Amino acid sequence: MNSKPNDQESAQQLELATVDVGTGPVILFVHGFPLDHTMWQHQIDDLASDFRVVAPDLPGFGLSQPISEPVSLSDYADSLALLLDQLEIDQPVVFCGLSMGGYIGWQFLRRYREKVAALVASDTRSAADDEKTARGRRVMASQVRTAGSASIAADMVKKLCSDHTAAESPQTIEQLIEVISQTDSDSIAAAQLAMAERPDATPWLSEIDIPTLFVVGEDDVITPPAEMQKMADVVANSQIVQLEHAGHMAPLESPAAFNTALRNFLNSTLAEAP
Ligand code: MLT
Repeated sequence: MNSKPNDQESAQQLELATVDVGTGPVILFVHGFPLDHTMWQHQIDDLASDFRVVAPDLPGFGLSQPISEPVSLSDYADSLALLLDQLEIDQPVVFCGLSMGGYIGWQFLRRYREKVAALVASDTRSAADDEKTARGRRVMASQVRTAGSASIAADMVKKLCSDHTAAESPQTIEQLIEVISQTDSDSIAAAQLAMAERPDATPWLSEIDIPTLFVVGEDDVITPPAEMQKMADVVANSQIVQLEHAGHMAPLESPAAFNTALRNFLNSTLAEAP
């Protein structure tokens, strides 16, 4: 299956370009920065046989409309809640976010707890930026606006993927560089500034009362396994899986292992559901 956004577009025009395929319990896949839904293609292809897979492009990314106004991560969460309403999904979903998608997940849970049955947090963190990181984001926001998205793509992708992926799957590296280069530069800047301003979600972790799966690539240098383990230690009903041969883009770099971990989690979680 090679799904395109809006394969099952509802009568209403969606605000976000969205892949919506399959039937069954809903998994909402929320991509990382500065990417789009195609980072989930292996999950879409595998899981749509048993689940309804909803994979939007966040505002400003992929085929969704560019944004130039300032945004916050809670704005992105609101746009996902609106999407679920537009798709007439009223059952709680499995929220599966990678990195920035995970940051948005903390906001989504705070604002729309009733819409979430379970959480999958891949290669992400709860902590806010320190001052140096926030400053780096402001510098990149300004660079991307003047020099364009392609100017940041290659350096960024070096940090996203493991050495193993770079050696064994150069097409993955090329795919990511292509996606970033095609992304609207104002929207990249807006997202960077939103992440620089995000609150520390760590105090919220102990309040999470739904089944939670943490997944991390063993070679993730952006959100390393030790940091994710600390989050898993705090979330009561959680488990953590570490994937070999993967960096920050675990679902893309190690798709078979990621999908197995996700299916095992979903099978046990959905079996427990009342
Ligand atoms: C991502 O993958 O979404 C980014 O690494 C998030 C970030 O820049 O903190």
